[in-house]
Parts: sequence; structure tokens; C-alpha cells
Amino acid sequence: MDKSLLKLLPYTKPYKSHIIWNVVYNVLYALFSTISMLTLLPVLEVLFGKTKAVLAKPVYTGIGDIKQFGTDYMYFQISSLTKDNSIQVALLFVVLMVITTFLLKNLFNYLASHHIMHLKNGVLRDLRKSMYNKIIELPISYYSEKRKGDIMARMLGDVNEVQNSFFSILELVVKEPLTIIFALATMFIISTKLTLFVLIFMPISGWIISKLAKNLRAKSLEAQKESGFLISIVDETLGGLKVIKSYNAEPNFKNRFDDSVTRLLNLTNSIGSRNNLATPLSEFLGVTTIAVLLFYGGNLVLIEKTLDGSAFIVYLTLAFNILTPAKAISKASYSVKNGLAAAERVFEVLEVENEITSKENAIVKNTFESDITIKNINFKYEDENVLKDFSLQVKKGQTVALVGQSGSGKSTIANLLTRFYDVNEGTITIDGTNIQDMNLQSLRGLMGLVTQDSILFNDTIKANISIGKLDATDDEIVEALKIANAYEFVNELPKGIHTNIGDSGNKLSGGQKQRLSIARAVLKNPPIMILDEATSALDTESEKFVQVALENMMQNRTSIVIAHRLSTIQKADTIIVMQKGKIVEQGNHDELIALNGMYNKLVNLQSFE
Ligand SMILES: Nc1ncnc2c1ncn2[C@@H]1O[C@H](COP(=O)(O)OP(=O)(O)OP(=O)(O)O)[C@@H](O)[C@H]1O
Ligand SMILES: [Mg+2]
Repeated sequence: MDKSLLKLLPYTKPYKSHIIWNVVYNVLYALFSTISMLTLLPVLEVLFGKTKAVLAKPVYTGIGDIKQFGTDYMYFQISSLTKDNSIQVALLFVVLMVITTFLLKNLFNYLASHHIMHLKNGVLRDLRKSMYNKIIELPISYYSEKRKGDIMARMLGDVNEVQNSFFSILELVVKEPLTIIFALATMFIISTKLTLFVLIFMPISGWIISKLAKNLRAKSLEAQKESGFLISIVDETLGGLKVIKSYNAEPNFKNRFDDSVTRLLNLTNSIGSRNNLATPLSEFLGVTTIAVLLFYGGNLVLIEKTLDGSAFIVYLTLAFNILTPAKAISKASYSVKNGLAAAERVFEVLEVENEITSKENAIVKNTFESDITIKNINFKYEDENVLKDFSLQVKKGQTVALVGQSGSGKSTIANLLTRFYDVNEGTITIDGTNIQDMNLQSLRGLMGLVTQDSILFNDTIKANISIGKLDATDDEIVEALKIANAYEFVNELPKGIHTNIGDSGNKLSGGQKQRLSIARAVLKNPPIMILDEATSALDTESEKFVQVALENMMQNRTSIVIAHRLSTIQKADTIIVMQKGKIVEQGNHDELIALNGMYNKLVNLQSFE
């Protein structure tokens, strides 16, 4: 069995009863679709006035005589009806039989689809849930390599594709084959000779169709990859619209998009034309079979006289009835191939190992008592060490500031403390406990992070701030906003804290966004604050606002501040000056000024500005 198919099996488990019912109803459906065809026989017999009088109830003698018994029984029923009543009643009776069997057939068909719908939609929901859980659980590092659009395409497109096409497999293995088997068995009973004849044609058309389906899967994988790329372009375009417009880069982006859409067009056309070929081809092959049948069967009826005319008509309808499921099978085998390709891409994401998790029996630590110690750590994102043999201790209640050139590894320290990445060598401990031995949630619970780029969601101010404390009251939110020096501007907004701030908070100014990020950390009220100050130059006015916010926030807390505006950190207990992943100077503001080294140079540069 295909690997992706096996992996999907656990997802169907909660819907086992639906599968069982689907199979049961499909068996009934298949049975009744043959029976309903058979009920045409007495109608034809009555119409052509060919009913024989059978007055004694026939006796069933075994499967070998089922044909004789069946016809005799039918004649017996019709005879006993016409004995007391007119032929009209007999006609009415047989027609009612037709209606009843067709009604049952369609009822079972409906019930079967009803259950498969629950299975399909249920699995779709569960797959989406697992996908989202995985997406949210995977470490930050996973996304620096992957395109967001690719993940989105898998989450939305491929999961849908699995639902749409993959579950035709159930129909493929139960409904259609059974319909064919029942019909074929009946056909054998009506005429063995003719049926053997049909059977020769079936494998030939099957072979032609499977030839066509062969390279479909590779193509559809390629197409799904391309649509991932397409979504990436749209995603990046929307995110970078200001840059694209101001640099007049529209043509460049349009070209990229055009290329991708055209590649997708070619791929989908080539997949589509194979798909399109499936139906007409199988129908044509089917009709050819029927035509040959007509000729051969006609001979049996007219010349050899070994086959009854009305039986032949019923036989033909049965044969034609096989065509529909045969067509469905060939079509479904195409869509299953699509579904398998999509499932492969979905499971590729679902199976990514998350390296950054809590260990078993991880230590849950809800308080911070004494110190954070970074000891001889080495860390690299790719090839080159970004932090080299780096050590630092932060005592409870202290404010430690990290300064240094861009790219010296300051944000990286924040990434390591929060375990967005794990160190390659060395240890980071909190109160002597290695953070890798701590429960991840409790570790992050101890920390408030204000990232370098304010990350805000398209929601109200309240929702954005209370993300770490969902049950916060409006008063608490206002309090946090006040500490973050943001209440003044929020209060002036028409709906106050219930104002929507737009996509990524774009209805706000840079400084306002920063202060909301700070308010968010303040509301969470963790013992350790990690503050990655935004690099974007603020005007002196808003800089002052942010400055006050930071000072308020750091009060009575242990803080690690990554500062670009040195004015922010003059009161810090320790200032660490970094260069290329190493500490070059360390001390408080006055000590470092007196040292007249790197820090002094940086301060002079900034005051000059
Ligand atoms: N996800 C990543 N993958 C690969 N390399 C990275 C990644 N993030 C950062 N780097 C590299 O690591 C180095 C340190 O980056 P870091 O973000 O820590 O600098 P920084 O000191 O915060 O700089 P800035 O002051 O500009 O914010 C840089 O050379 C950068 O190119
Ligand atoms: Mg940084």
C-alpha cells in the first residue's frame, strides 16, 4: 500500500463507524443497482406478451439452476396475478417493482454518500488542525529556511486536495467494483458466452487508461510546489508593498508572478488534458465494447436463437451499467494520484521533527530566585559562529544592557534565552537549572519579550495586549498602557482600547507600536524582561515617550535590554559592549566612559547625531 495512504489511516479512525456504514450501504447500493436492472425483464416480458403460464410454484434446487428458477418464479408471479386480474394489474405490479428497486438503490446511494461525507469532512478538519498545531509548534528556525507561501499552500491547497480526491478511494474499492461484480455475475447467468466476450475487452481498455495515469503524480507534485511559490510571491508582495512601490519595482514583481503563473498554467494544462482524456476515452472504449456486443448478441438472438430477446435487452442495460462504474474507477484513479501527491506534501510538514521541546519530566519552574547564567556558549545559525565562547551573568533585580554594532549577536542572545534556538555548546541556566531541562512553557512564562520589530495582530488594542493574559480586565490593560506610556494616545482613539489597529498594527506610528509591545510585556508581568529595542529612528519626541516606557517597565524587574539608543541604558547596572559575538567591554556607564574605549566612541557618535 502507498505510504501516504497508510499515514492517513490513523486520521480515519475516529470515523470508523462512518466507514463501516458507507461500506454496508455501498454493498446494498451495488446489489440494488443490479436488481433494479433485472426488474426490467418482467416489464419487457409483459409488454411483449411473452409470459408463459407457470401455475405451480417453482422449487429452488440450487445455485446451478438459479436462472431457470428465477425466470420460472417470475412467470409464476405474473401468471398468478393475471389469473384473477387483467393484464393491466400485472403491468402495474412489475412497474411498481421497478420503482421500488430504483428507489432503494438511490436511497442506499444517498446513505452511502452521507457517511462518506462525514468521513471526508471530518478528516479534513483533523488534518487542518494537526497542520496548524504543527505550524505553531515548529521552531522559529524552520521558517527561516522555508517560504511562508509554501506552508500556506500545503495548509490550504493540499489538505483540500486530499479531501477532494483522496477519499474517492473508498468508492474505488467498494462501490464501483461491487457494482461491476454483481452486474457481471448476473450477466454470466443470462449468457455465459456473451459475458466471456465482454471480459476480453475490459482488460484492454483498463491497460490503456493506466498507461495514461502513470506520470500524472509527478506532474501534480510539481504543480503544487509551484502554487506554493505563487502564494509566497503574493504574500511577500503584500508585506512589502511600500518598498515595491517606492522603488518602482512593480514590473520586476509582475514578471516574477507572470513567470510563476505561466509555469503553473503549463503544468495544470498538461495534467488537465490527461484528466480530460480519461472520460471520453473510457466512454468510447465502452461504447465500442457495446457495439461489438450488439452485433455478437444480435446473432445469438436472431440466428442461433440461444438467447431471448428481452433478456438480451436487459443484458445490454447491465453491460451499459458497468460502464459508469468503470469510468468512475478510471477517473478516481486519477484523482487518487493527485490526492496521494498532496498527502505526501502534507505529511512532509507533519513529520518534521521539532528539536526544541520540553524533555520528559522537564522541570516546571514558576519563580525566578537568583540569577541567569550564560556560560561559555557557542552558537551558529549556519556556518559561522555568531556567538563565540560567550559568558554573562545577570543577577535578580539587575538591568543588563547589551550594546554593540549591528550584527554583533545581540538579538541572538534573546533568541537563545527564550529557546527559539538552542545553543550549540555551553549552557544557559536560570537559578542553576539548565533551560533545556526546564519545561518550555514555564521557561517562556518567566520572560516578557519585546521584539526588535513590533509584532502586532490585526485586532483591537485590547486583544493585542492581553495575548499573554487573556483574562485581563480593562482596568489592568489601562494600567499596563499607562506604564508603557501609551495610554495617552490610546485614550484619544475613537474606541479606546477597543480600536482595531489594522494589519500588523499599520494604523499606528512606529513609536506607538513599540509602546503597545511594551504594554503587552508589562501586562504579562514576568520576572524577567527581555527587551530588543527597535532600531528604527524615532523622533526625539516619541523617543522620549518610549524611553519613559522602558524605564517604567524595567523598574523592580530583572531586565536584559538590547539598546540602540544609548540614552536608554545609562542607568543600567551593567553595560556589555559586544563585537562580533564577543564581549569587548563591560561595566557601568561611568566606568565605560572612563575606559575611553569602544563604548565611549559609540556614545560620542550618538551625541553627535
Ligand atoms: N535566522 C538567521 N539565520 C542565519 N543567520 C542569522 C539569522 N539571524 C541572524 N543571523 C546572523 O547572525 C548574526 C547576528 O545577528 P543578530 O540579529 O544577533 O545581530 P544584532 O546584534 O541583533 O544586530 P542589530 O543591532 O542589527 O539588531 C548576523 O551576522 C546575522 O547575519
Ligand atoms: Mg538585533
